Amino acid sequence: MTSPSFLERHERTHGCGELRASDDGAEVVLTGWVQTYRDFGGCVFIDLRDKGGITQIVFDPTIAEAAHKIARELRTEWCIGVTGKVRSRGANVNDRMSTGAVEVAAHTIEVFSRAETPPFAIEDDLDTNEALRLKYRYLDLRRPKLQKALITRSNIARVVRSYLADNGFLEIETPYMVKYTPGGARNFLVPSRLNPGSFYALAESPQIFKQLLMVAGYDRYFQIARCFRDEDLRLDRQPEFTQIDIEMSFVTEAILQRVIEGMIAAVWKDVLGVELALPLRRMTFAEAMDKYGVDKPDLRLDLVLCDVTAPCGKSGFRVFEGVVGGGGIVKCLRVPARDAGDKLTRSMLDGLTDFAKQFGVKGVAFARVQEGGAWQAPFAKSFSDDARAEVNRLAGAEQGDTLIFVAEKPKTANTCLGAIRLLLGEKLGLIRKGEWQFMWLTDPPLFEIDDATGEVAAAHHPFTSPRLVDEDKLESAPGQVLARAYDLVLNGVEIGGGSIRIHRTELQARVFKALGISDEDARQKFGFLLDAFQYGPPPHGGIAFGLDRLAMLVAGAESLRDVLTFPKTQKGTDLMTECPTPVSPRQLDELFIKVKDELPVKG
Ligand code: AMO
Repeated sequence: MTSPSFLERHERTHGCGELRASDDGAEVVLTGWVQTYRDFGGCVFIDLRDKGGITQIVFDPTIAEAAHKIARELRTEWCIGVTGKVRSRGANVNDRMSTGAVEVAAHTIEVFSRAETPPFAIEDDLDTNEALRLKYRYLDLRRPKLQKALITRSNIARVVRSYLADNGFLEIETPYMVKYTPGGARNFLVPSRLNPGSFYALAESPQIFKQLLMVAGYDRYFQIARCFRDEDLRLDRQPEFTQIDIEMSFVTEAILQRVIEGMIAAVWKDVLGVELALPLRRMTFAEAMDKYGVDKPDLRLDLVLCDVTAPCGKSGFRVFEGVVGGGGIVKCLRVPARDAGDKLTRSMLDGLTDFAKQFGVKGVAFARVQEGGAWQAPFAKSFSDDARAEVNRLAGAEQGDTLIFVAEKPKTANTCLGAIRLLLGEKLGLIRKGEWQFMWLTDPPLFEIDDATGEVAAAHHPFTSPRLVDEDKLESAPGQVLARAYDLVLNGVEIGGGSIRIHRTELQARVFKALGISDEDARQKFGFLLDAFQYGPPPHGGIAFGLDRLAMLVAGAESLRDVLTFPKTQKGTDLMTECPTPVSPRQLDELFIKVKDELPVKG
């Protein structure tokens, strides 16, 4: 008969981050991985790690000879179980560990499994190449930083679920394999074996289904839903990501935002112990563009832009006058002397022109403000005194300040100078790290109108309601129609976005028309939704949060990859499982699919 296993005899009593001075004398059972190993001839010391922390274990031959003998064989990352007695470290407290006041004198040890030498050390602030870490992601995930991030993510989901349940929301699932509808993000397609030649799309969000649930009477819905978008990837974008998706009936923007603020405050309080002041700040899209050049301003940075088109258009400076004459604008960023100190160097300013090229901007002009408001700038002489005085007034310029100008088409000028604002904020150390700067962005345009073609597209999605006061401009001036839409922005990142939806058929028809979607097209694409709206749709609205982005910010991570278990690379690949992969001709045959003979070379 074999002896009962270690786990049958001993159940784990504590996590490796839990023991404190008050546990002195307790008999404990710990399990985990060997982080470090030191054999001092007499005793063997190991740091035992699990996702909660680290505990020092001492194997003393005078206490347990057999355990000491086994311990001498241990190596890093072996997985073991230990029984022993907690004892105080006296004056030798290790302040870097939460368990630093104690150690465990081992009585018995069980080696559950041995480990090869890992390809990189399991510790934070590693300088290992990310590709290697992604290939061995299960080892990377053993690192405390990633474990903390995933724990934070789990905590956020827990608080969200409990807050929403307490506020009358039902958690309801919707399909991931859905009908393909054009517009929005590019979809991933899934071939249907049972319907040869036809494809499902992977849902880019549960949008249409949650609206149908409102029609069905489930008036407070939420779902922590996976979404799939075949987009170009960036640090804050993944092809599959998770939304906290919410929809409510019988609400206005104000009601919905109040409920959502409660949820965000609950998360901050529970997960971070931070009390947020409610209501959160609101800012219109127009103000955000004007002052910050973007629709997601980082308010941890006080620098603001201002519009100096009017004086620049009659300044005598031909470059600015030409741009203004051609329908462009001139925006100015004032960097106050007190913020810049002498850190804003000439070479930093010269470098801005190169930086601006990525936005298609040819030049960035700057002027140093002298005594009496005079400018030191190559173009100072061409600039009329009146125009200069007016620019100084608009920018609030004072002696020693630097003014940075971009003259371009409105969108380009704003995007470029908005990015320069952030770049200088970072370089000059003006972004107050550690602050939580939330804001609701409100009243964005309903449509995006292509400068070149005049083509009208939905800025959010085609079911977003225009503001009531703007409805009569739908046909005459669609570019001026603002939407009942809102984003929640945190420290310059859009963490959530949503809108009040259209529930009146005739308004929906007018919006489709403005978008150039014919009745026939609308029926073909969204017929089921339009049909449903014939049966008493309630007024409704919703929002979706990027759970990954939320977790990234709350956990203080730099990339979405740090809060995802098995993320994809920039090229959409998983280096661990090596996916995507080609499939066999037989599998393709079953799906009635043929791959082209000529494939583009992988870049
Ligand atoms: P939207 O497209 O703005 O709205 O998405 C909502 C939130 O999801 C997050 N997000 C992403 N996170 C990671 N990777 C991505 N590729 C990605 N794309 C979006 C962002 C964003 O704020 N159905 C609407 C919501 C609604 O109207 O209710 C929607 O999907 O944090």
